[in-house]
Amino acid sequence: MNIDVFTLFPEWFEWFVSQRHVSNVLASGSQLQCVNPRDHTPLSGGQVDDTPFGGGAGMVLRVDVLDSALRAHYGVDPVTLRSRRRVIALAPGGRLLDEELACELAGEPALTLLCGRYEGFDERILEHFASDVVSIGRYVLSGGELAAMVLSDAVLRKLPGALGHEHSAQEESFSAALDGNPEYPHYTRPAEFRGWRVPDVLLSGHHEQIELWRRQRSRERGAGDVSGGAGS
Ligand code: 6GU
Repeated sequence: MNIDVFTLFPEWFEWFVSQRHVSNVLASGSQLQCVNPRDHTPLSGGQVDDTPFGGGAGMVLRVDVLDSALRAHYGVDPVTLRSRRRVIALAPGGRLLDEELACELAGEPALTLLCGRYEGFDERILEHFASDVVSIGRYVLSGGELAAMVLSDAVLRKLPGALGHEHSAQEESFSAALDGNPEYPHYTRPAEFRGWRVPDVLLSGHHEQIELWRRQRSRERGAGDVSGGAGS
């Protein structure tokens, strides 16, 4: 997987790529690279954004600046780029990121993530350069950077080399193995703490019963029952 992040704040990603689970995947052949549109702006003084036509608060990332940055990095007209790789603009109104989309993106050889800032993108960026617009929830962040990290984390952890990848591919929250339901509850030692006992079935060594119990708990959680069914 090759991820290019177009961001005005590339230093934010230095922390992200230094985290163990991310650096493990990157050491296994994946790449995450940042490109700062400010380094490629055709405007003077490093200008990248502008006030919105029609008035209103905030600043909008300019389409000509992103055109220059994408063109400089890929050496092609950015309009043709989205037919060759997923170009994902991060914006609060986009398609909600879920496990299904994360799996789909994990199957791509390369992703380009576009982070908007301030009031976001000139709409023509979304119309002509992006193949997808993705949001991580119905709330507004001050930029797409954190959303790009959330998306990258959700995708990279599915790739070989990620901590727990071998197991996680099968039975993780929202996976097909659990019929799209959240994961069952986990317990570890001590078996009893302050009178709170781990469900007996998990200590029983009966693998079929444990399996059955886990599926039931997962299904209950998917149905919005968060009681966990402890003790049952
Ligand atoms: Cl992708 N961007 C911004 N700015 N805010 C968000 C978001 C993205 N997803 C949720 N809120």
